[in-house]
Parts: sequence; structure tokens; C-alpha cells
Amino acid sequence: MGPSSVVVKDLYARYAVSESWVLKGVNLAVGRGSMLVLMGPSGCGKSTLLYAIAGLLPWVVPGEVKGEIVVEGVDVARSGYRGLAGVVGIVYQNPEMQVVTRSVYEELAMAPENLGLPKEEVMRRVEWVVEALDLERYLNRDPQSLSGGEKQLIAIASVLTMRPRVLLLDEPTSMLDHKGARLVLETVEQLKREHGLTIIAAEHRVEWAVEVADRVAVMSDGAIVMEGSPEEVFSRVEDVERYGVRPPGAAEVAYELRRRGFEVRVPVRLREAFEVFGL
Ligand SMILES: Nc1ncnc2c1ncn2[C@@H]1O[C@H](COP(=O)(O)OP(=O)(O)OP(=O)(O)O)[C@@H](O)[C@H]1O
Ligand SMILES: [Mg+2]
Repeated sequence: MGPSSVVVKDLYARYAVSESWVLKGVNLAVGRGSMLVLMGPSGCGKSTLLYAIAGLLPWVVPGEVKGEIVVEGVDVARSGYRGLAGVVGIVYQNPEMQVVTRSVYEELAMAPENLGLPKEEVMRRVEWVVEALDLERYLNRDPQSLSGGEKQLIAIASVLTMRPRVLLLDEPTSMLDHKGARLVLETVEQLKREHGLTIIAAEHRVEWAVEVADRVAVMSDGAIVMEGSPEEVFSRVEDVERYGVRPPGAAEVAYELRRRGFEVRVPVRLREAFEVFGL
């Protein structure tokens, strides 16, 4: 792995109302230009970890954070989100939290305008994202009138126009349809390849996760209990079952074959399944 973009050391975090720590000693290093997908059951702390990395907890959301968080050289535990302006973009799990303007066009232009970029550059970025995510038909719409999935797509688009160096995505495909999820995937991969974008995404959709992830981290009760490439993580059959992660379909077939006594390698993506199963 190249130089780290995001480093988290022995991180503890809690909300003001929490009775105990929500994050309990999280350690993490994410290489620049790579993508980490966080998985794990509801309530294990995925969103909380993203809020802490973005410097929102405890700076915007009241609470307490202990440990070390360094993002692109910024000591987040000390500076909070203010030290990360233009560096980190976050897309929340609930897109309602993010939509603030009266038209989709304004929504997309807002972030680069706030960064003080010249008008032509703002327009260039908006045009780029409209093309990449196929948003032309929404430009004059009131964001409030959009469906949940459409709002989510616009929320992702408006963060991408900021061209952050680190992108935090909280369940980015939860409301998207198949096409929307695919366009987001392709665009994020392009940014990763061409601009060295670093991405951390909490994601339940495992087939999507293994397509995009360089590394997968499985969380359980506020800690990271498994970490590795998708192949490494999903070949640890017993741990995957113990922590209740749903494996990709291709892996599940291999698990069943193993239970029946066949010594097969565990594929995580469909195209490798054909190889492994000799089809
Ligand atoms: N704003 C908040 N105030 C108080 N407690 C919170 C807050 N947000 C989350 N929690 C609690 O912190 C714990 C971790 O929640 P978190 O939202 O990080 O889980 P998650 O892994 O993102 O779950 P999901 O998959 O459902 O999104 C849970 O027990 C939750 O109830
Ligand atoms: Mg969450």
C-alpha cells in the first residue's frame, strides 16, 4: 500500500447521550487512491466512524472522541471539520440532510462556488458530473420534489463537484436503482484512477462492495474485527458467518461446495466464479 491518506489509531467515540463508547479502539489505515468498504450489522458504528473521520463528531454532533485521526496530514482530532474544508466530502446516509437549495443546478454548483472557484470552473465541474451521472433531466427540478433515490444521486453528485481528496460515503447505494448505482460506481472508480481519490464507504450491498473495494473492513460492536482484500475477508468462512456478514453470491456457492467436501477457492466476483468453478 502507498502512503496513507487516512489514519485512525485507537479511536474511541461516543455521543453526548451514549451510555458507553460507541467506537471502542478502532485502528485503520487507508492508502491514498484506494477504496475501503466498511461492512457490519446495523448499529456496529459505521456511520459514527465516518462522522469522526470527517471531524463532525464531536464538533457538530455533540459527543467525545479519544485517539488519533489524521486525514491528508490534517490532525482531525484537534482541528475538527474546519481543518478539512475542500479536502473531505461526505455523503450522509439520509440524503434529506444534505439538500439545501431550490434547484438541482444550484445544488450542484454550491460546493465549488463555496470553495471560491471561478465561474467557468464551477460550470465545468457541474457539466462533468451531469454527464457522468446522467442528470440532465433533473437540472431545473426542485430537489425537494425528487424521490429518495434521485436525492441520493444529487447528494453524491454535489459532493463530487467539490473534487475532495477523500470521499466518505455512508450507504451510497441504499436508495439508488441499478443504473444509478452503476453510474456512481463507474464515476467513483474513474476519480480514484485519474485523481487518486481515497474513498471510505459504508455499504450493505455486498456485490457492489466487492466490485469497488480494494480493502474490506468488517465492524462488530464498535471495533474492526476483520480487514483485508475482499478475497482475504470472504475466504475466512467461519469469521464471515460469526460476524453475520452476508457473503457475495459467488462466495456462498463456494462455501456450500466446501461444506460438501470440495476444496475450492472462494471467488468474490461473478467473473472469478466462472474461473473457479471451471465454467
Ligand atoms: N446521533 C446519535 N446520537 C446518539 N446515539 C447515536 C447517534 N447516532 C448513532 N447512535 C448510536 O451509535 C451506535 C452506532 O450507530 P451507527 O449509526 O454508527 O451504526 P451503523 O453501523 O452506521 O448502522 P446502520 O447500518 O444501521 O447505518 C448505535 O447504537 C446508535 O444507536
Ligand atoms: Mg449507518
